[in-house]
Amino acid sequence: TGRCVVAVDGPSGSGKSTVSRRLAVGIGARYLDTGAMYRAITWAVLRSGVDRADAGSVAKVADEVDLRIGTDPQGYGVTVDGVGVDADIRGPEVTGAVSAVAAVPAVRKLLVARQREMIVNAGRIVVEGRDIGSVVAPDADLKVYLTASAAARAARRSAEDASDVTATAADLARRDRLDSTRKIDPLAQAADAVVLDTTELGIDEVVARLRDLLTERG
Ligand code: C5P
Repeated sequence: TGRCVVAVDGPSGSGKSTVSRRLAVGIGARYLDTGAMYRAITWAVLRSGVDRADAGSVAKVADEVDLRIGTDPQGYGVTVDGVGVDADIRGPEVTGAVSAVAAVPAVRKLLVARQREMIVNAGRIVVEGRDIGSVVAPDADLKVYLTASAAARAARRSAEDASDVTATAADLARRDRLDSTRKIDPLAQAADAVVLDTTELGIDEVVARLRDLLTERG
């Protein structure tokens, strides 16, 4: 059980989180949810009251907060200045603001550096996000890009948080557009990523396929 880095990218609702956590448990690896880091910084920005359209102020908040995140796939905690934010970072306020905060270059620079450090320290880790295979860990042992139809993604998300499916579909479309068109590190498929469409696949099938791919690659 040596070093092994698996990069899992894709839009929200593609099954990334569930698949990544299960894969990590299955192969005895750590797990890093990079979206939770962007969400935690967004939470801090909203709490601070600074103008979130002001990139300089947003970057300053990101630089000053003490963000901590665990890497246990069976349950990790996120804290900001010692405050547990696991529930709050999934709420509508953070979800509505996170794409804008994640588009600030200084925020990305800071978090990408933290993510690389955590990956090196973990050695064996499944990392999920938007730019993992392309930017954070271009030398990952396996890069996966998960997709699913817009309808399937909206249905999964609204089942998860009991939200209205039409509103969820609109929010996903909005975030996809922002995440894919931002200037730095947009949501992108790495050239060497294995693309899996999960619309018709169950979680277990996806995880099994990824384990097969890892075995094939030794
Ligand atoms: O994956 P999740 O939906 O929690 O990510 C929340 C947001 O964080 C995304 O919509 C995106 O704006 C941002 N993000 C990012 N880069 C990552 C992970 C997340 O820009 N590696």
